Amino acid sequence: MPGLNKLPPFPEDIPTHPLLVIDYQLLKEGNEDEINRLWEAATKLGFWYLKNHGADREVDEMFEMGEETMKLPLAEKMKFSQGEEGASFGYKVAGSYAVDEKGTQDTVEFINISKDDALAWPNKVHREYPSTVNSRMESTIKPFVQKAVEVNGLLIDILNDKLGLPKGTLAAKHKLLEPSGSEARCIKNPPRPGGVDDAQTALGAHTDFGSLSFLHNRLGGLQVLPPGSHSWYYVKPLPGHAVCNVGDALAVFSGGILHSNLHRIVTAPKEQAKYERWSSAFFTRPANHVELTPLTDESAMIAEAVRHSPDPNRFRTGQTSAEWFARRVKYQRIKHWTVDRRAGQPAEVQSNIHRHKPLQFDKINMGLLVALVYTALTNSSALLTCLNRLNKLPPFPEDIPTHPLLVIDYQLLKEGDEAEISRLWDAATTIGFWYLKNHGADQEVDGMFEMGEKTMSLPLDEKMKFEWGDEGGTFGYKASGSNAVDEKGTRDTVEFINISKDDALAWPNKVHRDYPSTVNARMENTIKPFVQKSVVINGLIIDILNDKLGLPKGTFAAKHKLLEHCRSDARCIKNPPRPGGIDDARTALGAHTDFGSLSFLHNRLGGLQVMPPGSQSCPFSHQPLPGHAICNIGDALSVFSGGILRSNVHRIVTAPKEQAKYDRWSTGFFTRPANYVELVALTDESPMIAEAVKNAPDPSKFRTGQTSEEWLARRVKYQRIKNRTGPESWHASKGTEHSEPDQAVSV
Ligand SMILES: [Fe+2]
Ligand SMILES: [Fe+2]
Repeated sequence: MPGLNKLPPFPEDIPTHPLLVIDYQLLKEGNEDEINRLWEAATKLGFWYLKNHGADREVDEMFEMGEETMKLPLAEKMKFSQGEEGASFGYKVAGSYAVDEKGTQDTVEFINISKDDALAWPNKVHREYPSTVNSRMESTIKPFVQKAVEVNGLLIDILNDKLGLPKGTLAAKHKLLEPSGSEARCIKNPPRPGGVDDAQTALGAHTDFGSLSFLHNRLGGLQVLPPGSHSWYYVKPLPGHAVCNVGDALAVFSGGILHSNLHRIVTAPKEQAKYERWSSAFFTRPANHVELTPLTDESAMIAEAVRHSPDPNRFRTGQTSAEWFARRVKYQRIKHWTVDRRAGQPAEVQSNIHRHKPLQFDKINMGLLVALVYTALTNSSALLTCLNRLNKLPPFPEDIPTHPLLVIDYQLLKEGDEAEISRLWDAATTIGFWYLKNHGADQEVDGMFEMGEKTMSLPLDEKMKFEWGDEGGTFGYKASGSNAVDEKGTRDTVEFINISKDDALAWPNKVHRDYPSTVNARMENTIKPFVQKSVVINGLIIDILNDKLGLPKGTFAAKHKLLEHCRSDARCIKNPPRPGGIDDARTALGAHTDFGSLSFLHNRLGGLQVMPPGSQSCPFSHQPLPGHAICNIGDALSVFSGGILRSNVHRIVTAPKEQAKYDRWSTGFFTRPANYVELVALTDESPMIAEAVKNAPDPSKFRTGQTSEEWLARRVKYQRIKNRTGPESWHASKGTEHSEPDQAVSV
């Protein structure tokens, strides 16, 4: 693995937990002393080093395979995602698991290859893998799996005999040719540029799900919580030594005699923290159909252990190996994390239950809890009406493909947290979309929804008095059907009310235009505060991106001065229900990139879809998360940055499944540069941008020759049905996606 020699050594002066070193060759020769030492390790801490395992070459190649795979574009890796339903094979994107009960996101990427797929190659048993995996299946992965199966198999046989089980009892539960969750894995954990000062948990405290793990690390970061201790200790990586540990399945089979110990992955210690941390592993798991229950009938020792256990029921899981495994994986996933923004309490934490938790937590009735807390907090009947309406909305369905977005914590950005800033940068430069939590604008967002509802209830001819017009204006009311959603001229279905930032801040003075009475009535108490908060939030993010791009401090900010006139606006959108559900689905707002710099969007129902970069079809939905905004980069930041910041194609379609039958409301704030600002890449101000433009396939797309206002007015004008002459007017409305044929979206 390139660069290995350059890694700093594991520091000498931090507390580590010593592990027994077990010699695999001695085990193989039946050395009784060594077998007793293995037994000691497996029944006490449940962790040990294993030397002379003979898999060094295969391990090195697994690291190479992992490195090749993690270098693939995110969109390519996401084609092989594990999904949300408890499958483990395939790619796991960083941030898709919770590391604690607060729902903090993990930072590690995995690629998991099924033992069954590796052994059956080139036949497929479970799923397909990225090209980098396929090309190494025969030469790297299959040999690694075979060696690991042999190593773990011998250890399991030894433990079988020491437990007093009839010969081959545990082996029969791990038959090589029966489908199982056994898998080879490569893990990447990004460096912490700030060293351990910005330490965080990469993978939360857990016990392993299966029988036996065979793990290889180059850097520190693995920690164990020794039985009876309240402190975590690092396990020091030793070159050529695997770290092996007992998982839940062997603990259950043995009535707890074999110890499945809690462990976690944290930032590597000291200087090591600044380097990528890679691990490779093989996890032996029982065949899918095997029931996880203690083998009391087969071993007097196990029967005795269960009898003396303080809680014998904890070993009777009532689940097969496949069920146990799928449940634990599924409830680690952030998507299955339920936190209500008002109550702020986690509703369920079910993944890591073996050691300390009963088998099922009682699920809290969150709806009731939220209602009680909320009633206590406010007497506002309008807000209660709003809450009632929200509670009645059907949940986002579980079984449709969604695109995971990183969740960025605004408070951490505000505190200058380097790790969070790096995650924002990741999101802004790959998919260009992210969730933003702790933005502190919840109350203003609720007010905006109420303002929108009141406005859309006005008679149409009243609303039409404030219509945008057909000349590229964007402030005021947009009637449903006035824009095209595609080059065929299909009409959109959404109504907007857009309020200019300049008008809101100048109120009661007028800068650009007049608004309906429902807007005026809420200008001071709803719209102005919403605009002010949004400006601050987007401004901070824009400042951070400015610095990451290597631009002189305040370069972006100078293009978005608060008191200069611009097309920034606050918006509320209504999309009518589709009474026939998705059978009667259609595109509500056509595929587009956003016109301005940064969008700050709030949805109650699904319907927003994004076309991930490099993907040709199958747009993924975004799941609205309560209290989380969705933010995305628009054309202006993309142009300024020479394409480093990504303005991604998205659209609004009918909400999925049952949700389709309800009004779909969104509200948002769109930050745009001052009207006079020229949309051109800032190559003179940043070598990084200069380099990006130099290497772009079409550098001319970053010289638009238009000001911010001209760009926006053109795009809006040629979306209007009234200005439609044919497909050419649709194309005249395009933004930065225009010169990227691979981004063409057919709707
Ligand atoms: Fe683990
Ligand atoms: Fe948009």
